[in-house]
Amino acid sequence: MDRRQFLKTTGAAGVGVGLMSHASPALGVLGASDKLRIAAVGVNSRGAALAGAFASSPNCEVTYICDVDDKAAAKGVKAVVKHGGDPKVVRDFREALDDQSVDAVMIATPDHWHAPATLMAMAAGKSVYVEKPCGHNCAEGEMLIASQAKYPKQVIQMGNQRRSSVVIAEAVAALKEGVIGRAYHGKAWYCRNRGSIGRGKVVPVPRHLDYELWQGPAPRVSYKDNVIHYNWHWFWNWGTGETCNNGTHEIDVCRWALGVDYPTRVTSTALRHKFDDDWEFYDIQTVGMTFPDKKSIVWEGHSVDAMAQYGSDRGAMIFGENGIVKIDPGQYVVMDHKGKAVERVGAAQAGGSTDVKAPTKDLTKNHVINFLESVRGDAKPNSPIDEGHKSVLLCHLGNVAQECGGAVETDPVNGRVVGNAKAQAMWGRAYEKGWEPKV
Ligand SMILES: NC(=O)c1ccc[n+]([C@@H]2O[C@H](COP(=O)([O-])OP(=O)(O)OC[C@H]3O[C@@H](n4cnc5c(N)ncnc54)[C@H](O)[C@@H]3O)[C@@H](O)[C@H]2O)c1
Repeated sequence: MDRRQFLKTTGAAGVGVGLMSHASPALGVLGASDKLRIAAVGVNSRGAALAGAFASSPNCEVTYICDVDDKAAAKGVKAVVKHGGDPKVVRDFREALDDQSVDAVMIATPDHWHAPATLMAMAAGKSVYVEKPCGHNCAEGEMLIASQAKYPKQVIQMGNQRRSSVVIAEAVAALKEGVIGRAYHGKAWYCRNRGSIGRGKVVPVPRHLDYELWQGPAPRVSYKDNVIHYNWHWFWNWGTGETCNNGTHEIDVCRWALGVDYPTRVTSTALRHKFDDDWEFYDIQTVGMTFPDKKSIVWEGHSVDAMAQYGSDRGAMIFGENGIVKIDPGQYVVMDHKGKAVERVGAAQAGGSTDVKAPTKDLTKNHVINFLESVRGDAKPNSPIDEGHKSVLLCHLGNVAQECGGAVETDPVNGRVVGNAKAQAMWGRAYEKGWEPKV
């Protein structure tokens, strides 16, 4: 099949195709007109956009808005009501898990909740659309793969929506057909002008927030005024840094395009350069990943300088023996070694790729529809959890390498760290007692 045929076959709504007979655990055998019922968990920003994407998808109803912050819940409700929905609002998503009529759960909480909530939802018989990164640490990704194996009739799809871009799928197919000969190196980057998060003060928990449930599996710390919302990304207790926050997307594109899985070595050079504040990760980081068969990826993250590189504030480029392919969500460009464009497919997307509420919004819609079709058994997930895990693992390993001397050697069979006790100890995390996740 050539790549034009591939595109025609896969269609606009989903890149993966395949027919499986599959019954929703909640509804039994689904008819094409049966609505899937979704619980949206964590709806402050990304989750509200996703709740709207689900609510506006065919044969889908968002029946629960779950958020520990009442003010955030109101945003999720608004996004769903706009599309004619009438969701029940709960602070504790476990109420939605107990409801047999719910088929699937969308999780857009902070990262420390992603895997634990996914495991709970899978055990309750639901399929899960979980935002990236699929886990807060390397071990959690492996737990999700084990959960998918334990409940094969349900689906876990990660929210790396570029996997549902028809143009990116076409670029990957073109590379596999040899458009630039042997493809051997990927360069991924992200540039953003983030400000300081300052120094937080311990203050009383606002009444509209259930901070105990917000913390969930993470070890308890006093409530400070510069963490919720969003800034938790930059603290190890809840977040995973810019690598997992934004690197995941383009590192995943490079990994997909090069056809590589687990690395043999990961390196990192990084510092918190610009501000002296509570931010615990880095604001400029370069992660190097070496794979078998002489393939490599480098990701460069600039959290505090928004200057575009190669004309894009974020992107992925694949280098090969006969040229270079630059891949953006809406377009790919085949270039010669001097950077002269020889083929351009698709069109650059307007609106800015770092718009967090609707980054590349058509991709998100495609990804949501692909997930829903997968839950029905009419498609294969474009981002099954074993693939999502491999890309997220590279990001975690970048952070681990940074903390453990700048480099880790890894087993290309499973990505596990070889011979570095400190790095091996960072594979998982400590959990709050009573909240340890289980497959
Ligand atoms: N795929 C993408 O392009 C994309 C874009 C933006 C964000 N994201 C991901 O989405 C996630 C959310 O990001 P955000 O910017 O919206 O973060 P945010 O901090 O603004 O929102 C998180 C929400 O989760 C809620 N929450 C926390 N614990 C909860 C619980 N136990 N039950 C229910 N709700 C809970 C919080 O109250 C908050 O409303 C992150 O993991 C992020 O990486 C993905």
